[in-house]
Amino acid sequence: MANTILVGAQWGDEGKGKIIDVLTEQADVVVRTQGGNNAGHTVYIGKKKYVLHLIPSGILRKKKTCVIGNGVVVDPIGLVSEIEGLRKLGIKVNGNLFVSETAHVVFPYHRELDAQREVLKGKNKIGTTKRGIGPAYGDKAARVGLRVIDLVNTERFEDKLATKIKENNEVLKAFGAKPLSFKQVYAAYREAGDYLKPFVTNTVIFLHEALRRGDDVLFEGAQGTFLDIDHGTYPYVTSSNTTSGGACTGSGVAPNRMDRVVGVLKAYTTRVGEGPLPTENAEIADMLHAMGREFGATTGRARRCGWFDSVATRHATMVNGIDDLAVTNIDGLDTVETIKVCIGYRDGKKKYDYMPNDVEVLARCEPVYAEFPGWRTPTHNARSWKQLPPKCREYLKAIAELTEAKLFIASVGPGREQTIFV
Ligand code: GDP
Ligand code: IMO
Ligand code: MG
Repeated sequence: MANTILVGAQWGDEGKGKIIDVLTEQADVVVRTQGGNNAGHTVYIGKKKYVLHLIPSGILRKKKTCVIGNGVVVDPIGLVSEIEGLRKLGIKVNGNLFVSETAHVVFPYHRELDAQREVLKGKNKIGTTKRGIGPAYGDKAARVGLRVIDLVNTERFEDKLATKIKENNEVLKAFGAKPLSFKQVYAAYREAGDYLKPFVTNTVIFLHEALRRGDDVLFEGAQGTFLDIDHGTYPYVTSSNTTSGGACTGSGVAPNRMDRVVGVLKAYTTRVGEGPLPTENAEIADMLHAMGREFGATTGRARRCGWFDSVATRHATMVNGIDDLAVTNIDGLDTVETIKVCIGYRDGKKKYDYMPNDVEVLARCEPVYAEFPGWRTPTHNARSWKQLPPKCREYLKAIAELTEAKLFIASVGPGREQTIFV
């Protein structure tokens, strides 16, 4: 399969977990390189549902190795409970998961600050997952963060944490929030640190040894292109590089070692949290929610929904270098009579065939639509390209063409078997 970077080509929740699970069959190592437990990647194996937050979705397949890379921010308490949760479901997590020593650690003060800043922002809030992601990456950039290597060092950790709690308690008090008890945080983190110690290693060396052996590595993106700190709809973004470059910096594997980029996208568009979503549409949201679909895997929030936006996905192809497309949730459009696809934006008299950088302009933009006839046939039983209704194939060909990348996978349901290689 070669070394593949998989990214979300929209606003997250594109179905990356499902596609990773499918592609892991051909891979040896699966690596998370950015984000934290703000991610929620859902995988169904038969009737069993698994939701992964920090651990790569590749963990669900036997004889594969998973890595949490240096670019991830790790909530150790969350990670321990995720490992325990998987073990309870019968998944082996022992000797097949490695955590980077240089990944930054998320602390309760990060979560509390995340929540407090949202309150302060009022109606301008980002709608974060409140997992402390922004403050943790903020500390990393400000060079005041603690890393996994500090967490597992029993001599060093206590002093370092004491200083951090003291400083952050002052900030929390200024927000009018309750200060944290050093004793409680220390006890919980010491326990989690001891639990995680056997998983912790120099993952850069580990990955390069794997590459030297000729292993195929799959880089599992979290969030999506328009949540990227540089390329997304700032400030309504997450705090990491969710685009393909993040896979290199977040793992220590160089760009010239990568072979291809797969972009995952839904046959329509969704977004959780605030910020512009040009093709947002109440009717399609009501339809999908009535089917019991499009509720967030991490926070349970109803996702905002809209038509497919090819201006956005073409931009995603550009900034990620997407070669191949995996289109998911095609079955979500099975009952729609006329399907719309955004092919441009209009702001008054000004027309755009690209995404304007100013979020206020983007928020004002009206989509220009092309229309496609719906196939109005269930697709969830289709197992080959030929079994898809002709109008569905036309639609998929059109959105791939507009996105300027090759159609690679068509997904018609959450199951492994509901995956069509085009
Ligand atoms: P991720 O964060 O990108 O991994 O996506 P999420 O897991 O948050 O959300 C995607 C949702 O769509 C999950 O509930 C998946 O089980 C589901 N899913 C993925 N592909 C398909 C598909 O082709 N059809 C249907 N019906 N559900 C899908
Ligand atoms: P996966 O990997 C969808 C969104 C939040 C919010 C913004 C910032 O499952 O696709 P943060 O907590 O990161 O500071 O929140 O980003 N967000 C996601 N939306 N899927 C995700 O992950 C997301 N992770 C963060 O809703 O708008
Ligand atoms: Mg998700």
